[in-house]
Amino acid sequence: MDTIKILDKKFALSISERDILAAIDNVAQNMNRDLKGANPLFVAILNGSFMFAADLMKRLDFPCQISFVKLASYYGTTSTNNVLELVGLSENLNGRTVVIVEDIVDSGLTMTKVIDLLKSRGAGKILISTLLFKPSALKHDLKLNYVAKEIPNDFIVGYGLDYDGYGRNLKDIYTVVK
Ligand code: IMP
Ligand code: MG
Repeated sequence: MDTIKILDKKFALSISERDILAAIDNVAQNMNRDLKGANPLFVAILNGSFMFAADLMKRLDFPCQISFVKLASYYGTTSTNNVLELVGLSENLNGRTVVIVEDIVDSGLTMTKVIDLLKSRGAGKILISTLLFKPSALKHDLKLNYVAKEIPNDFIVGYGLDYDGYGRNLKDIYTVVK
C-alpha cells in the first residue's frame, strides 16, 4: 500500500524495506571494518530503535554486546529543571567503547543528552549510529559516525518510528502528506 492513514494524518510510502536493509548493510560493513577488536557495547535507545538494532546486529561479525535503554525524564523535587536518566543500563561502562543505536537524529538534542549521560557513567570512546538523519533540522554540534540514510526535514513513521505510538510495526517508512 502506497498511502496509509494513521489517526488524523495521511502518509505516503517513502523508503521501502529493501532500501532500508541495503542502507543497514552498508553501515554494518563499515562497523565490521572499524570495530573488530574494539569489544563495543551497543546501546540502543528504545522505543524507536528496536527494528534497526535487530537488523543491524544480525549483520555484525565481531564480538560485541547490546543493551536496550530508555531515556526517562522526571522533575526533581528541589529544582525546576527536568532530570534525564538512562533506564536499563546495568553494564559497567568504564573506558568501554559505546555505540549508540538511535532511530533518528532530528535537532540532535536527544543525542547530546545521551552522550552526556554515557560520559558521566565513564564510557570511553562514544560512537553514534542512526538509521535516519535530518541534516537540515540539526541544531546541536554532533559528529554522527554511522548514518544509514539522510532524509528531508519531514515527519516520518514506520520501521520502529511512531506517530503518537502508532506505525512502529510498518516494515517500510512513510512520510506525512502535507
Ligand atoms: P531530536 O532530539 O530533536 O534529535 O529528536 C530525536 C527524537 O525525536 C527521535 O529519537 C524520535 O523519537 C523523535 N523524532 C524525530 N523526528 C521524528 C519523525 O520524523 N518521526 C518520528 N519520530 C521522530
Ligand atoms: Mg527516539
